[in-house]
Amino acid sequence: MTTAVRYYSRSGNTKAVAEAIAKAASVKAVSVDSTEAGINASVDVLFVGGALYAYGIDSHLRSYLDSLDGSLVGKAVVFSTSWVSKHAIELVREALAERGISVAKETLYFRGKPNESQLEEAEKFARKFL
Ligand SMILES: Cc1cc2nc3c(=O)[nH]c(=O)nc-3n(C[C@H](O)[C@H](O)[C@H](O)COP(=O)(O)O)c2cc1C
Repeated sequence: MTTAVRYYSRSGNTKAVAEAIAKAASVKAVSVDSTEAGINASVDVLFVGGALYAYGIDSHLRSYLDSLDGSLVGKAVVFSTSWVSKHAIELVREALAERGISVAKETLYFRGKPNESQLEEAEKFARKFL
């Protein structure tokens, strides 16, 4: 089983969730801005996270999703943080679907900065897909 974790985070909230997921999967959480972010070989599960900014996802995340080669991704799992709206999940899901990537129905969402027990929940959530 190969797994990858990719995220975009401005203030660290989504990054914290990405790192908890990555810990469970024994991989590194990689920002979509990193030169290491590209998916160049098949992955069974791609965890993708982003937050909502003024009702949309950041253009860095959108461009990254648009660049994905859907044939290399078995399934994607979406996670997000925001103040109130879970809409980023739908926006990420739609962008992945446009790349022909199937997305797990189950998603992970926290309001704002995750606390310790939420980070444990994130690890537990990730293990379901491993
Ligand atoms: C400029 C800006 C715009 C935001 N717009 C929204 C929004 O429209 N809806 C919402 O629920 N949260 C909004 N938020 C809250 C962020 O989604 C939330 O703080 C999120 O956890 C940030 O994640 P990050 O630290 O991973 O970047 C906004 C935050 C900022 C800084």
